[in-house]
Amino acid sequence: MNRYDVAVIGPGALGRVFAAALAPVCRVLLVARSAQGARDLEAGYRLGDHRVRPDVAFPPRLPTARWVIVLVKGPDTAAALEAARALGPSGILSLQNGDLEGCFQPLPGQRLEDQGVTTEAAYRDGNHTVWTARGETLLPEAFAELAELLRRAGLRARTEPQLRRERQRKLLVNVVINPVTALARRENGALLESPLRELAERLTLEALPALPALDLTPQAALERVFAVAQLTAANRSSMLADVLAGRLTERETLTGALLRRADALGLEVPAHRSVHALLGGLEGARAGHART
Ligand code: PAF
Repeated sequence: MNRYDVAVIGPGALGRVFAAALAPVCRVLLVARSAQGARDLEAGYRLGDHRVRPDVAFPPRLPTARWVIVLVKGPDTAAALEAARALGPSGILSLQNGDLEGCFQPLPGQRLEDQGVTTEAAYRDGNHTVWTARGETLLPEAFAELAELLRRAGLRARTEPQLRRERQRKLLVNVVINPVTALARRENGALLESPLRELAERLTLEALPALPALDLTPQAALERVFAVAQLTAANRSSMLADVLAGRLTERETLTGALLRRADALGLEVPAHRSVHALLGGLEGARAGHART
């Protein structure tokens, strides 16, 4: 079989968006977690008004691909990276929430430089994917060729030399929007109004000193978080989607990672600590449910 140009690991909302956008311009493969997941995807999915019928594979039966884009949730990272290596690519780009610097347990050979940032936003409603906001994808400089492919696919994409700053800016957004929306079970737009707005402000200001590379004034940080909430107002955040589906959340790779950074810097982050405990309660309830 010919080599695929791009393999996307993680058929969640964003994985489906990237695979569908790339399909008209190159050979793209969507990698599912299991045989059942692959069968469901092969039957096709809806993205807006389009019906998408992707090429699908699942580990360990994998072909080869030139580029791999990893778009799984934090808890699934280790398995995804194993699959990514099995595809024998020239480069593995992670576009996940959270960052390799303190969020994920780095695996042998895993490099921080291989992490980009995307502000595309989408959510899934069953087999229907809703692409709620057109964002931008920033890639490490070694991925210029993949950036070009993404642009040909109609996505806004470019290489960015200041990726550490961008990753921390994305992490700031995710440690505010994701837990608040997951706990309140509301769409992102709910952050724009009282009483969630006050909590979001508090979480934003408290996180700033723990993310020194993000280089934003408190005012600019607040504006950024609320601009994303506004732009993605109709979105169910990925953490809310996990809670609603009874999956493990990214609590540890987002809020947990922020707590670890704060501890290392000797900073107090009481609101994030409370949010972390509340999310733990949600996951505990889910585990209790699974046992009964
Ligand atoms: O994780 C998510 O859902 C997204 O990163 C964001 C930006 C919060 C939009 O929903």
